[in-house]
Amino acid sequence: MAVKVKSQASHAGQTVKVPSTQAELDAAKRVLDKNNLARHLELKQGSATSRNTRIMLGKGGEVSGALIFSVKKGEREAEIDFYAVDPGKRAEGMGGALMRAFLAEMRGAGVSSVLVHPSCELHEPYYAHFGFKRLPPTGHEFYAMAKKL
Ligand SMILES: CC(C)(COP(=O)(O)OP(=O)(O)OC[C@H]1O[C@@H](n2cnc3c(N)ncnc32)[C@H](O)[C@@H]1OP(=O)(O)O)[C@@H](O)C(=O)NCCC(=O)NCCS
Repeated sequence: MAVKVKSQASHAGQTVKVPSTQAELDAAKRVLDKNNLARHLELKQGSATSRNTRIMLGKGGEVSGALIFSVKKGEREAEIDFYAVDPGKRAEGMGGALMRAFLAEMRGAGVSSVLVHPSCELHEPYYAHFGFKRLPPTGHEFYAMAKKL
């Protein structure tokens, strides 16, 4: 399944999709690696699969962003586990397009809320921009934010 990102002047033609080849999954892991996140994925004993990964293709078709998620609570709650854009391609709208496509896909799949544990305080305004609200502390290493769909 591929979600065609709504065309916008600054990044028309970019596509968010399910990785369809091992090469795309490897490229998604490289994007995480450039953001020092791949090690965390391994520590969680997780892996990037076509089921739990969505990728953002840049204008040349190269994998430029990746979002890895899990779906819990009887398919009603999704959690963003890892989310990153290639450092050389940030602030060009790719992260936002990937996030919006992911949220739309989850809404369409019947998921009612999306959870994230941002890795630092600086990320709170970023997620708030997409409608996430901070939750009371739970004892988890990182604070949590959630968005109702
Ligand atoms: C977080 C990240 C994925 C964002 O990707 P990006 O391509 O730079 O994001 P975009 O340029 O598409 O910005 C998305 C939107 O967020 C907004 N935004 C950016 N920084 C913001 C901030 N600090 N506060 C509020 N809004 C912010 C942008 O204005 C944009 O808004 P719009 O889509 O409504 O125009 C990227 O910075 C990244 O890979 N960071 C390192 C890894 C990381 O920290 N991941 C998150 C871990 S919790």
